[in-house]
Amino acid sequence: MAGRIPQNFIDDLLNRTDIADVIEERISLKRTGRNYSGLCPFHKEKSPSFSVNPEKQFYYCFGCGAGGNAIGFVMEHDRIDFPQAVDALARRAGIEIPQDNSVDHAQSQKLKHSYQLLEQTASFYQQQLKQHPEREKAVNYLKNRGLSGQIALSFQIGYAPPGWDNLISHLQQLPELKDISKNQDLDDAGLVILKEENDRCYDRFRDRIIFPIVDMRGRVIAFGGRVLTDEKPKYLNSPETDTFHKNRELYGLYQARQANRNLDRVLIVEGYMDVVALAQFGINNAVATLGTATSEHHLTRLYKLVNEIVFCFDGDNAGRKAANRALETTLPLMEDGRQARFLFLPEGEDPDSLVRQEGTEQFNQRIKNAKPLSDFFFDNLSESLDLESGEGRARLSALAMPMLEQIPGKVFQQLMKQQLSEITGVSSDFFQQIAPPPATSAPSYPDNHYSDDDHWHQDNRHQSSRQQPSSPQPRQNSYRPQQALRPSSLGSRALRWLLHHPKLALKVDFETTEALSALMDPELSLLRALVEQLRPNPALPTALILMEWQDDPNYSILCQLTEQELLIADDESMEAEFIACLHQLMRKTEEAKLDYLKRKKSPPLTDDEKRLLNKLLLQNQRPRP
Ligand code: UTP
Ligand code: MN
Repeated sequence: MAGRIPQNFIDDLLNRTDIADVIEERISLKRTGRNYSGLCPFHKEKSPSFSVNPEKQFYYCFGCGAGGNAIGFVMEHDRIDFPQAVDALARRAGIEIPQDNSVDHAQSQKLKHSYQLLEQTASFYQQQLKQHPEREKAVNYLKNRGLSGQIALSFQIGYAPPGWDNLISHLQQLPELKDISKNQDLDDAGLVILKEENDRCYDRFRDRIIFPIVDMRGRVIAFGGRVLTDEKPKYLNSPETDTFHKNRELYGLYQARQANRNLDRVLIVEGYMDVVALAQFGINNAVATLGTATSEHHLTRLYKLVNEIVFCFDGDNAGRKAANRALETTLPLMEDGRQARFLFLPEGEDPDSLVRQEGTEQFNQRIKNAKPLSDFFFDNLSESLDLESGEGRARLSALAMPMLEQIPGKVFQQLMKQQLSEITGVSSDFFQQIAPPPATSAPSYPDNHYSDDDHWHQDNRHQSSRQQPSSPQPRQNSYRPQQALRPSSLGSRALRWLLHHPKLALKVDFETTEALSALMDPELSLLRALVEQLRPNPALPTALILMEWQDDPNYSILCQLTEQELLIADDESMEAEFIACLHQLMRKTEEAKLDYLKRKKSPPLTDDEKRLLNKLLLQNQRPRP
């Protein structure tokens, strides 16, 4: 099948398809109240954890966390890809997939226009760095950070001048953009903040150093902007748009490919500045995620290009946590022949500061000495265990085995098991014989959380906490780390509102969105991400909202939240509830954070934490509105 399948066709297809029928054609289901239930086809189980919700057109398994819409189900179950699944459902529904219809055409035109705008914007910012009356302070900033003019040029670094409409007026006066630079177009490209009430808009990036983000073909798709001072947020990134998907893109990948004919290894670092500084010092194979954790998408994409990935982490606690996440994301991708290594930097340093301090050679030496995944894996698991004792070694194998089972490379898996057997003194044959223990991640929620009257949930909760799936299929998401989000918490209430009523995202103002991320809280960040996803698509059906989260560790939680009904019906009280909930949530988080930061002794507060603490203290002195 050629071409992109138009989104509205997919909507239509889902509308005409009953998920319960589709699933029932493949497994047997029983009606239980409003839902259907059955034995989950994605993991082994004796009593049903698998539920289909015909109202939401959605399935979910409480045993293994699988969930999604009809297309997702057919993909997983029949093991086919997205276009094939759409094809299968379309044939079943007796409708044709439009090959190149006008919607498709309009969509691709729109994309083309966005690319044009983004390209012109990048040139504008670059030009401002050379011409703007206030260019001096931007240039000085870059100089102070040690950037050469040449490297700034090769990364197309620019400057967004202070002011509310520099970019807008520039773009709108360009004759070649005459028909494609209306406020809505600029907003579609993520360049402005648009107030839909009055169609007013203003420049998104103001008085910031600009890092254009380009795709694999070198097209500008988004921007990151850094303040020149200590203000917050330090970096502002373009929102999710049709051209920019944070979870997939890697900053610097294009440049790395340009610089290396035969790229064989990629270094994943945290920040824009790290990529640029390393490149300036001749280490031009570094890429950075864009303020998100490294996702399966990122890694899959990189492993298509190179065989070796070196993760680079700060030596602090956050770095260790990030390393653990990276490890969990990487394991299921470790085909034979692929390599992953972990590089920990001295505390307080990042690649930017370090390479400037000690130079290329030393930094390369660090890369060379980075820990292989296998060492990091065992060191990390053993850390809090006493391997002198039998209990400690048994614990190690209990922890290690389910993780090793996720490794797809048979040879590598075998080697890892051998290593485990060397450490524990238990023969590796034995490890081969014992059944793999459960993949741990069915979220364990506090017992009182299902307060609604849906008895199916109740039953299932007990059942699934007693009996874990015994042999999980190696499917996406079921093994992912879950965030500790309690479904009865304020945060999950707010999330639930959004999932059920995406248009509420329009009620979250810009300041609130910014404040959400400033608090450095995973729950609030998730909320913010969802708001950003929904704001441009306030009418997105729930099942489609979730589709975009399939590769995110929070996917399964979002699925669960979707399953729970909300009881308020009229728009006004709904809005009021939601906003109240959001504000209460922010206040609570601020209080908790303040309390935590005030008491935290070791490790010492990071700079970010100090700043947040100061801000919260100040805020606390002022009476609340
Ligand atoms: P860091 O805080 O480690 O910054 O954020 P950095 O890259 O070292 O930046 P400098 O050296 O202070 O300029 C790492 C990355 O996290 C994202 C950005 O992608 C950044 O490069 N980030 C950070 C944001 O998106 N927003 C922020 O407010 C901060
Ligand atoms: Mn830095």
